[in-house]
Amino acid sequence: MSLVDALDPRACCPHLVMVMGKGGVGKTTLSILLAMELSSSGKTMLLSLDPAKHLAKYLGLEGEAGEVEGGIYVKQVSVEKEVERITSQYADLIRELMPSLSVLNLDSAADALKYFPGVEEEVLLRRLEEALKSGYDYVVVDTPPTGVALRTLALPKLYLIWLDKLIEIRERIVSLRYAIARTLGRRVEIRDKALLKLYEMRDKFGALGEVLSSSSRTSYVVVATPEPLPMYELRETVGFLRSRLGVDPKLLVLNKVLPEGLAAGLGQLGVQRRSLEELKSFGASYAVVEHLGRPTESISDIKELRSRVRVWRP
Ligand SMILES: Nc1ncnc2c1ncn2[C@@H]1O[C@H](COP(=O)(O)OP(=O)(O)O)[C@@H](O)[C@H]1O
Ligand SMILES: [Mg+2]
Repeated sequence: MSLVDALDPRACCPHLVMVMGKGGVGKTTLSILLAMELSSSGKTMLLSLDPAKHLAKYLGLEGEAGEVEGGIYVKQVSVEKEVERITSQYADLIRELMPSLSVLNLDSAADALKYFPGVEEEVLLRRLEEALKSGYDYVVVDTPPTGVALRTLALPKLYLIWLDKLIEIRERIVSLRYAIARTLGRRVEIRDKALLKLYEMRDKFGALGEVLSSSSRTSYVVVATPEPLPMYELRETVGFLRSRLGVDPKLLVLNKVLPEGLAAGLGQLGVQRRSLEELKSFGASYAVVEHLGRPTESISDIKELRSRVRVWRP
């Protein structure tokens, strides 16, 4: 069975494949492997949300986006640049919606916004949202390390709670304004730009939240190496997916697995076997990827890894 058989990504368009796990376990490597396999059955985008730009290096990508071997379209998101862009967009939006606030120095407020908690996650979420509208059959996402990835996935639901409250407040303001104007015998514009913007955001994040918690639209792949910390993060990630998004992972991957003799010599056989047993216990499809014996450094190394992947369905 191949990696893609384990995902069974029938529903499109596109089908998202989120590759998650601790830094260094092989998310980027696995993302490339998955994109290579998927690209033989549909238009594939490989979206890197990982600030470590290894993807571009492996694939010899010049710049931030482009087509690479096998017809895969690769896009590397530069978080710092995007943060600049969205904070100034927010300042423009406030200027447009609330001209009376222009007495404040919005540019310096936008500058401060760059350092707000959650801005990075918002950037990643927007890029995901754009990728969903890009016309690809498959979008493979090389995610940032676990903490940021989980906060990003939690964001749509959190936004919906805020937006519902904000909409309620704004609707009250608009209806009061209307009642006052009528009492004074004045004509009043019923369309409220701020309220329309809030409705638009609620639709957008609602739809994105649905895609992310639908196992037919999104496949979660969680990668670990046979070591305690990566396995701990895998467990945390699976728990988060189940409790917060209501989805099961489609595929769990144990990467950099050593031949048993070598693992025994290094005193790692016990932890390697326990990791594999734990992987099986989740009841999802799982894969074992052997250690290549040297770091994978080029696309040809990654191709070589393809023959060292074994996949099982529970
Ligand atoms: N199966 C493997 N065999 C050998 N080296 C690997 C394997 N998988 C990943 N690597 C190496 O491990 C390091 C981390 O892999 P990478 O895919 O960049 O991880 P992540 O994206 O999770 O940080 C890289 O140097 C990569 O070349
Ligand atoms: Mg990476």
